[in-house]
Amino acid sequence: MKLTDILICPLCGASLTRAPEEPGTLRCGEGHAYDLSRAGYVNLLPPGRGRNKKTGDERAMIRARAAFLRRGFYDPLDRAVRDLLKDSLPDASESGATVLCDMGAGEGTHTVKIAAGLSEASGRGVLALGFDASKHGAESGCRYARSLGLLIDADGEHPGDGSARVVCLPANLFHLPVRSGCADAALSLFAPIAWEEAARILKPDGLFLAVSSGREHLLALRRVLYDEVRLTDFRPEPPDGAPFALLNRIPLEFPLTLEGQEDIQNLFTMTPFFHRAPEPGRERLAALETLTDTARMELSLWRRLPVEAPSGDRPSEETPDEEA
Ligand SMILES: C[S@@+](CC[C@H](N)C(=O)[O-])C[C@H]1O[C@@H](n2cnc3c(N)ncnc32)[C@H](O)[C@@H]1O
Ligand SMILES: [Zn+2]
Repeated sequence: MKLTDILICPLCGASLTRAPEEPGTLRCGEGHAYDLSRAGYVNLLPPGRGRNKKTGDERAMIRARAAFLRRGFYDPLDRAVRDLLKDSLPDASESGATVLCDMGAGEGTHTVKIAAGLSEASGRGVLALGFDASKHGAESGCRYARSLGLLIDADGEHPGDGSARVVCLPANLFHLPVRSGCADAALSLFAPIAWEEAARILKPDGLFLAVSSGREHLLALRRVLYDEVRLTDFRPEPPDGAPFALLNRIPLEFPLTLEGQEDIQNLFTMTPFFHRAPEPGRERLAALETLTDTARMELSLWRRLPVEAPSGDRPSEETPDEEA
């Protein structure tokens, strides 16, 4: 399976190809052109539509998240996602790799670890695409995938064996540059959820897996940062009439023991509290030598019901919700 069997032009929905005379560019039949970067991705944020929007996490946040997640602190989450997919995906088809689309992949660590874990645990070929508004996130994800020998070029082909291949691409998750009905599973980890777009890109019977923070997620960190901690419940639900049937909801809880300021500050920097926490709280956090906390989250799994998909390959015209 070739990546260009999946990717489409984000402007007009047409197929993308790399012409031999223009090896640094993917182009559609309408003449829209997308440059291949040296990091291995192709920037599929349409010019002027999202490219300049400040939806992408800033560089510091990307760097902190990459350092923290690549140290393995959230590996229990990647294993839980792997297991849920392994148990619920139909048997690997002979026609090609299982296609995963991570919608709001950040810097791609979860995308890479979940893809590698799923292929290792199930023996199926996996082709994973991590999409994020942040170009720096895609760059970091491609670098990580390359370091593990898992990167696939933007016009590359999955070898057709039981291995995993991953690419991270700058794109708007509400208008994914993905052909309709070609994904076996779509993932959303702590990211805004584009239900209509997930329904469009999934195969009938495909899976949609969302991970959301639990009420007491990182409570110890929040108690250091804030004098008063407000506990709020958030549980993702598809809008009325959306073609999804809930299969499973699993709470997940695991301990985090952070020794030293580097890990503590990396965790803080990758959370939404980084933008909001008051100065005295930041000072208290900066004085800690260790932090013992608990990650609490919920995994929700839906099956896409096999009703008529919206016609054509154009990304849906859904408008974004508030960022989660
Ligand atoms: C809290 S982060 C989670 C990242 C990653 N899934 C993880 O768990 O480490 C949310 C991500 O959603 C991305 N995002 C927000 N709005 C987006 C949009 N419209 N299109 C693509 N990505 C978006 C942000 O850039 C950010 O990387
Ligand atoms: Zn086009």
